Amino acid sequence: MGKKEMKIAFVGGGAMGEAMVKCLMTKKVAAPQDMVVSDVNRLRRELLSREYGVNTLADNRRAVENVDLIILAVKPQNLPRVIGEIKGLALEQLVLSIVAGATLSSLCQGLNHPFVVRAMPNMPAQIGVGMTIWTATAETVQKQKELARAILGALGKEIYVDDEKYLSMATALSGSGPAYVFLFIEALVDAGVHIGLPRDTAQELVIQTIFGSIRAVEKTGKHPADLRNMVTSPGGTTTEALLQLEKGGFRSLLLEAVAAAYKKAERL
Ligand SMILES: NC(=O)c1ccc[n+]([C@@H]2O[C@H](COP(=O)([O-])OP(=O)(O)OC[C@H]3O[C@@H](n4cnc5c(N)ncnc54)[C@H](OP(=O)(O)O)[C@@H]3O)[C@@H](O)[C@H]2O)c1
Repeated sequence: MGKKEMKIAFVGGGAMGEAMVKCLMTKKVAAPQDMVVSDVNRLRRELLSREYGVNTLADNRRAVENVDLIILAVKPQNLPRVIGEIKGLALEQLVLSIVAGATLSSLCQGLNHPFVVRAMPNMPAQIGVGMTIWTATAETVQKQKELARAILGALGKEIYVDDEKYLSMATALSGSGPAYVFLFIEALVDAGVHIGLPRDTAQELVIQTIFGSIRAVEKTGKHPADLRNMVTSPGGTTTEALLQLEKGGFRSLLLEAVAAAYKKAERL
């Protein structure tokens, strides 16, 4: 988008606020002088202005004055206070919230404002390879949606959905997903060590194997089961391992784990 004149205010300059500032600058979606970050934490303000050259403020109300986009990036428990502070200040601006569990209706009612986008990024967004799912209120106009897409696209991939119910499902899949994958990586490396490989060798083997498998799914467009069959020769070693995984309920365990995360996300 590269709109030099577009002004963005971040309320909350923690891990995600910083990641967004960094990605927007790297992808040239926004320039530092067009971004203001408001945070209660002095150390965060100092770090953000020093590292990225953005304006920083301690006053949320002042930060959101005269901007085109307000990004809410505080923890859920701090959101009610922030909403109380900025209520009535958002006029034509788009408000984009990445706060987990904060629904469109609670944001609209709290802020008394119709133009709201709710997004759920994930942790790899912090290095520009995130997966973000987002939705918007019916009142949000096309131009505002394009703005949201440009901002969220700077964090990696983004998918728009027109039904908010998919956000808690995505929270369980792509939001929590990196934790499942990190656990999988850790366990596979441990398995390599268990059978006698040096830990650093095991780690390199595992990471490249996962990376290569992802690329194979992407590049071939084949069903994962077809690709799995290609590496499973009759009576071979792979099938021995797969038997143990099936016996241990690997597939149903994953289904149940994601369903449990979804249930929790719905309760938040
Ligand atoms: N981290 C992720 O991977 C991830 C992924 C998806 C969604 N999210 C969502 O993103 C949001 C931010 O997460 P985060 O990991 O960036 O949290 P974080 O690192 O704790 O950042 C939040 C920042 O906001 C500051 N803050 C607290 N109260 C404030 C207030 N009233 N006004 C202005 N600033 C205030 C905090 O300061 P103090 O530390 O001094 O309180 C902190 O610097 C959360 O709602 C989370 O659900 C995060």
